[in-house]
Amino acid sequence: MIKLGVLISGSGTNLQAIIDAIAAGDLDAEVVLVISSKPDALGLKRAHDAGIATIGLTREVYNNQTAADELIAEEMLGAGAQYIVMAGYMRMVTGPILNVFPDRVINIHPALLPSFPGAHGIADAYSSGVKVTGITVHFANAAYDEGPIIAEEALVIEEGESLQSLEERMHAVEHVLYPKTLQLIAEGRVAVDEDRRVRIS
Ligand code: GAR
Repeated sequence: MIKLGVLISGSGTNLQAIIDAIAAGDLDAEVVLVISSKPDALGLKRAHDAGIATIGLTREVYNNQTAADELIAEEMLGAGAQYIVMAGYMRMVTGPILNVFPDRVINIHPALLPSFPGAHGIADAYSSGVKVTGITVHFANAAYDEGPIIAEEALVIEEGESLQSLEERMHAVEHVLYPKTLQLIAEGRVAVDEDRRVRIS
């Protein structure tokens, strides 16, 4: 059983998928704390409904990234989190978090990194005309949407498919891939080599 601290910024559907996978017995983990970069994020209600402790960062705290990341690291440690799971947390994490949780901060991104990083991975891939995109789960480092890749799943963009349809299919894949990848971590099967590549055993 691993203890997860989850960072969100918005609707929290990936958080919900994690909560549901734990309840279904598919993910051997406990979410000990959810912190949102926005105090009104819908994901906070999902956490609250699941009986999970929550913190919504005030704008004042959020605007000072060092102060925000120090507070996140302190609260996550205090709650007993062993891993930090970024689930739609829309900014990079910095030293105060990464130093306390080295190779223990995990992010999901809706594109096949290193292609289409940033806040609009699905739309950027769609409008570029690529025929294949996908989902990446990776360890976070000090650069946004970078860091050793743990898992990827590709999706073919269908001929004439709408952006909305692609978004729906991408989210459906995320909601399976993220809990599944976290379960690999819970089983102790994910290691980062000296060459900074992830080895799955
Ligand atoms: C997800 O699609 C996630 O991959 C993306 O934000 C969405 C959050 O949805 N993250 C990024 O783009 C990170 N660069 P959710 O709040 O419903 O889980």
